[in-house]
Amino acid sequence: MSKDVIIALDLDSRSRALAFLDSLSGEKPFIKIGMELYFAEGPAIVREIKARGHKVFLDLKLHDIPNTVKRSMSRLAELDVDMVNLHAAGGTAMMEAALEGLTRPDGTRPLLIAVTQLTSISQERMERELLIEKPLDQVVMHYAKCAAGAGLDGVVCSPLEAGKVHGACGGGFLTITPGVRFADGETGDQARVTTPARARELGSDYIVVGRPILQAADPAAAYRRCVAEFVG
Ligand code: C5P
Repeated sequence: MSKDVIIALDLDSRSRALAFLDSLSGEKPFIKIGMELYFAEGPAIVREIKARGHKVFLDLKLHDIPNTVKRSMSRLAELDVDMVNLHAAGGTAMMEAALEGLTRPDGTRPLLIAVTQLTSISQERMERELLIEKPLDQVVMHYAKCAAGAGLDGVVCSPLEAGKVHGACGGGFLTITPGVRFADGETGDQARVTTPARARELGSDYIVVGRPILQAADPAAAYRRCVAEFVG
């Protein structure tokens, strides 16, 4: 499985998104479209970015009953995206139904990735609000194993957890890792960060990078620097 850099296109309109893509000097990176842009512009923005030659990770984090998720995943597969995700907390039956819905009549399908516990959930919050009284890292690893057992392709996690996930779920189980910053860059609101080079050493399969590229004076150069450090 080849490593790649995914740019988080965390922008609120088609015009801003396309202006950013135009600033990339002909580079065609893998793009993550999240809820903000999708809810603002709908499926048309996905089709438009795909038509420009980008791979697309549609980050909508589905979580509902199995039948609803299955039917919704079928619609996302028709959008011809390359990667989608869901919350592992929806359960194994939901994850299996998602895979079924996602598989196109010709047998192909986008990669399906699970979110384990959101990084906004602390140990204390998980115990007090979700009544889950286990160590957070054990919960994350359990959800990752459930996702692998259901046939999913990988999880979103910190680069610092990539090795542990591969150990528990197999080397081919993908780790999609945000929280990446250049050694000489701003950390912003990310608490635990690693450089692209360190993420590579730790075994991440894909790094997701937003602000270090979106807010760079020269986004194309920042993207190329990520690729050079991470992919080599
Ligand atoms: O700007 P920055 O590089 O921090 O963007 C990281 C992207 O990864 C954002 O789209 C953010 O929502 C996403 N993400 C994250 N941490 C997670 C899951 C997703 O930063 N645990």
